Amino acid sequence: MCGIVGAVAQRNVVPILLQGLQRLEYRGYDSAGLVVVDQKKLQRVRSTGRVAELSQRSANTSGHLGIAHTRWATHGVPSERNAHPHLSGDLIAVVHNGIIENYEELRTRLTAQGYSFTSDTDTEVIAHLIHSHYTKGSTLLAATQATLAELVGAYAIGVLAADNPGQLICARKGSPLLLGVGDGEYFIASDMSALLAVTKRMVYLEEGDVAEISLSGYRVFDAHGKSVQRTVHTSELNNESVELGEYQHYMQKEIHEQPQALANTLEAVCNSQSLIPGIFGAEAAAAFTQIDSILILACGTSHHAGMVARYWLEEIAGIPCTVEIASEYRYRTSVANPKTLVVTISQSGETADTLAALNHAKATGHLYTLAICNVPESAIIRQSKLRLLTRAGPEIGVASTKAFTTQLAGLFLLTLVLAKQRGKLNAEQEQKHLHDLRHLPSAVQAVLKLEPAIAKLAENFANKHNALFLGRGLHYPIALEGALKLKEISYIHAEAYPAGELKHGPLALVDKDMPVVAVAPNDVLLEKLKSNLQEVRARGGELYVFADANTRFQSSEGVHVMQMPEHAGFLSPILHTIPLQLLAYYVALQKGTDVDKPRNLAKSVTVE
Ligand code: G6P
Repeated sequence: MCGIVGAVAQRNVVPILLQGLQRLEYRGYDSAGLVVVDQKKLQRVRSTGRVAELSQRSANTSGHLGIAHTRWATHGVPSERNAHPHLSGDLIAVVHNGIIENYEELRTRLTAQGYSFTSDTDTEVIAHLIHSHYTKGSTLLAATQATLAELVGAYAIGVLAADNPGQLICARKGSPLLLGVGDGEYFIASDMSALLAVTKRMVYLEEGDVAEISLSGYRVFDAHGKSVQRTVHTSELNNESVELGEYQHYMQKEIHEQPQALANTLEAVCNSQSLIPGIFGAEAAAAFTQIDSILILACGTSHHAGMVARYWLEEIAGIPCTVEIASEYRYRTSVANPKTLVVTISQSGETADTLAALNHAKATGHLYTLAICNVPESAIIRQSKLRLLTRAGPEIGVASTKAFTTQLAGLFLLTLVLAKQRGKLNAEQEQKHLHDLRHLPSAVQAVLKLEPAIAKLAENFANKHNALFLGRGLHYPIALEGALKLKEISYIHAEAYPAGELKHGPLALVDKDMPVVAVAPNDVLLEKLKSNLQEVRARGGELYVFADANTRFQSSEGVHVMQMPEHAGFLSPILHTIPLQLLAYYVALQKGTDVDKPRNLAKSVTVE
């Protein structure tokens, strides 16, 4: 969704702004723009094309102070006039992420005061409000603070004034924003990856913070206007971690990064001889003794990770678990059990529905919250008492891959820790699980070797319009995830069913034009699954079976069997995810779709 970059420096900031926007492209956007102050004049460039087009249009633009934006339309269609930055007169420029809920009322008031609007956005009211305070003699900082006091909603903003060429103001509430600290130059961005090329030193603003930035430094004020110090973090990531390198797409790169991402996520545990609750935070040991059930809240791919975890938590730890889509839970009247551990799962830590569901859970009386998240300092991490950071590194492809498998690894750790605490795991079982976890990265590496064979298989899908994915038990959510990957990036309509449900409806759809993908691990449900697949074959359906070694599936006419290298027991869902990611990727390549930035989708869904 929308992205912000800003800079104040002794050099021309336009290349910095453009490079930052390029880094934010993955979030999804439909227009982009920037403004710089040049000789006390605002120079604005906007485009409904890609950042590359904005770059061409900015060839003759330069300045030492600027703000830039990628917009994902909410209020007003994607168009140049709705693209940010928005101006008030020739004086004030604003970029904004989030939604201003009372913008209509503010717009009416500002119109009555003589302000005219050139866009349909909610953002433009911010520019005019700041203008109205600033032209009455306030400093830019005070004008922004007065404006923020009038806004209802969520925002991260960057503000500058033409007659104040050395100063940048920014603020956040409900949408993330951070400061980048360079050598005698300062930056702002909605996402750290936008700044890695210019600095690794970051200051995460907190809810309600406003910052005043100039060449001589920055000051941060909290929601009450009090000057505060915020810690400077040095990012472990380098610019290469967000570069494409040898790969054709970020999705392909991220699929291949999974062995390392899993190794990083599991590092602390795999290097130790036993499992301890402390990996979820200092208060985890005490909290885990108090809980009697789990409620998992998440969206999209993260929700699928939660669905897998339910099987693990109930079977291995013997703890009741429910999994709910965050956007449903947040509006449902539910009965809170204060002894339930609420687990939110999120790659970004910013997803509006997941965040709202977490707050809803807290408001209804839930006391224990745990976030499994890939972004340190994100809103979901900050708002949860307990946490586990997945260490997948930046995920740029809109379709989530390495975030999912590392979430599963994190959820498996949670299962084991709870099982141990509840006396469901003896020392021998614990060592066996630790051994399997240590082996996991190389097991994933072995599955990745199937890539050429899957690329070949994908050729059969390119001209299909529908596909059916089947799985059972632990692997039903993996079938759901496989179907989601395929529809997200290849636009082929794909549905997933627990294979036992086949004859209760979807079997009616099966014919020779409907490829049926089956996730077939060597587990207790294998024989049942085989019978389900017979039902498909008998109706002429073409089968694509991802089978473990020793499952005795044979390729034959209409049956394509892809043999997985080994069966990984409880960790099997992680291995079985990989070929389905590769399948979706190669089908999308065949179809020539925009793999990393599929139409209409965004990486971080920060609005409802
Ligand atoms: C978007 C992304 C998905 C992701 C979902 C939840 O729809 O495109 O890949 O699974 O949001 O995001 P989260 O960051 O909370 O995991």
